[in-house]
Amino acid sequence: MTTATIPVEDMTEDQAKEELARLAREIAEHDRRYHGEDQPAISDAEYDALRRRNLAIEQFFPHLVREDSPSRRVGAPVSEKFEKVRHKVPMLSLDNAFSDEDVVEFVARIRRYLKLEPHTPIDMTAEPKIDGLSLSLRYEKGRLVSAATRGDGQEGENVTANARAVADIPNVLSGDHPDVIEVRGEVYMTHRDFRALNARQEAEGKQTYVNPRNTAAGSLRQLDPAMTAARPLKFFAYAWGEVSEMPAPTQMGMVEALKSYGFRTNELMRHCETATELLAHYKAIEEQRATLSYDIDGVVYKVDDLALQQRLGFVSRSPRWAIAHKFPAEKASTILRGIDIQVGRTGALTPVARLEPVTVGGVVVTNATLHNAEEIERLGIKIGDTVTVQRAGDVIPQILGYVPERRPKDAETFVFPTVCPCELKTPVVREGTAGGGEGVVRRCSGEFACPFQRIEHLRHFVSRRAFDIEGLGERQIEFFFNDPDLSVKSPADIFTLAGENLKKLKDKEGWGEVSAANLLAAIEARRTIPLDRMIYGLGIRHVGERTAVTLARAYGSWQDFHDAALAVAAGDVAAREEMDALEDIGDAVIDAVSNYFAEEHNRAVVEALAAQVDVEDAERPVMDSPVAGKTIVFTGALERMSRDEAKDMAERLGAKVAGSVSKKTDLVVAGPGAGSKLKKAAELGVEVIDEDAWFARVGGEV
Ligand code: IVH
Repeated sequence: MTTATIPVEDMTEDQAKEELARLAREIAEHDRRYHGEDQPAISDAEYDALRRRNLAIEQFFPHLVREDSPSRRVGAPVSEKFEKVRHKVPMLSLDNAFSDEDVVEFVARIRRYLKLEPHTPIDMTAEPKIDGLSLSLRYEKGRLVSAATRGDGQEGENVTANARAVADIPNVLSGDHPDVIEVRGEVYMTHRDFRALNARQEAEGKQTYVNPRNTAAGSLRQLDPAMTAARPLKFFAYAWGEVSEMPAPTQMGMVEALKSYGFRTNELMRHCETATELLAHYKAIEEQRATLSYDIDGVVYKVDDLALQQRLGFVSRSPRWAIAHKFPAEKASTILRGIDIQVGRTGALTPVARLEPVTVGGVVVTNATLHNAEEIERLGIKIGDTVTVQRAGDVIPQILGYVPERRPKDAETFVFPTVCPCELKTPVVREGTAGGGEGVVRRCSGEFACPFQRIEHLRHFVSRRAFDIEGLGERQIEFFFNDPDLSVKSPADIFTLAGENLKKLKDKEGWGEVSAANLLAAIEARRTIPLDRMIYGLGIRHVGERTAVTLARAYGSWQDFHDAALAVAAGDVAAREEMDALEDIGDAVIDAVSNYFAEEHNRAVVEALAAQVDVEDAERPVMDSPVAGKTIVFTGALERMSRDEAKDMAERLGAKVAGSVSKKTDLVVAGPGAGSKLKKAAELGVEVIDEDAWFARVGGEV
């Protein structure tokens, strides 16, 4: 089924969960293509639309935010070629604005968060958003010691040798610089250098490149630094990570300092104080866009005062103090050659448009997701039609419609299959909605018999957030599944494969003795697995990474979780109540766990797997702050911070913030005007303090 077209406000909780799961999967796949392979498959516009939909659902259903939600993650996992580097300060991403209203709301939101009066001017900056590849350069005592790509935001690739080959990146800093500074910015290639490089490639009979961004990314990630040196890469510095002594208290001042150390900085950066001024500078930059020597895809706005940036902090993957105002999407038309059906892990059938390759804004587009049958109907498209395709920056494109005058006589209406495209041809069923109507998602009813679903289950099992087996990616799994010697049909088969021998593997296409031995070692390395990954890896519906962590922490050991799950599946009321008492776990999860373990096939799969692996007990989190583990209620008017800021601060310190006072409340922070909650606290004997006492208590921690 697909939940992709249901308006957020009409969604049931189950549909929202389903849709968040689908978005997490889809966005992860695009991230992998975009960052891992430098080969986007959809337009930026479509990609952004997916991310926005994900955020909108999360705002509506905050308790459903998945541990693996794209909003908590940036970019793609690092490629295997380079050594990994953990960023001391994560390299985060920016939220997007697409309209003037979004920008006005961005500024209003900042004022609300900081408790400023409407229309109070705020010092901000506006600068071009460079369409390149972000890089973090670490200098110790003025010398470049390491360079890392963004990777997934937490861990990037060590490209130090290559960064040294970029002329724009100083090996030694000039002037009076801090002892330790991580300089961050964008690696890019100018249009002229890009054209010259392509001309050279062509003359040498080599492959030419699609656009400057992908070329810059590919060039920086060459394994041979001499290759990088041969590519004319440039670098703009605009941000920083760890800094031992801050040279300036503002964004502007910091950028000036970076310039004084010998970096190129962007000349189009301006100081602004209102949304109107930001928008005026956006227009000015947009007008100059065509004459710039490099690609930009929008304008970035930032709060100038670093102390305010600190207070504003982050919402999942992006700062509250900055936003990227994107330029409108680019469009092109091409021919719809066909529509393929993809089957997901839960059997959902998703139609994918196969397009005559077309270049849209510098990227070759060959397919676009159509979400579901209703979307095809809504667009009114037929196979053979000339369709309009849109992509905003670099990633999956979207079909906007077709050109009626160009419809050929033999244009074919797509008939949504009534059976699964797998060899079993199992009937497709349309799920009902909670309201009793027919849902948009069509699902293969084959479950464990459907090879597509089994492959998707295995893909989930080996995915990065589950068992994460190095060298056994989502692509190889299909081969392992279909190969008659390997015949990896369920998770346990992966481990018996490792146990048996090398021979089976090493003679297979693409596998030599070394790669086979490496894979078997990687499988062995995962024979010991943390409990939450084990639970997540089972692929139980509605059990995302975050839920898996909750279950793992609550039950502590595999044995206890497994016993509880079996008891719930057997209808044991006490076991169900126990699970229901866990925070963030409701009927949808419990029913899914129950249904999963009620199925004999699943029980067999789980037992076979459990016999192969050692599951580590869950760790219980410990945090060192005066309020860690406490449940806090804020009430009354707060004067030094907004309610949101107070909540964020408490949560950062390991506390839980509740909306009402109960026996479980440890502390009430009350401002003027506090009423019934204060009374309740007094009745229950809960400690009450005022805002100043709160700051005094946690002051040193924030
Ligand atoms: S500031 C905390 N400024 O856009 C975020 N980013 O979507 C700090 N980018 O990862 C980023 N030009 O690769 C910033 N002038 C600019 C930028 C810029 C391009 C990229 C950067 C970042 C991505 C965010």
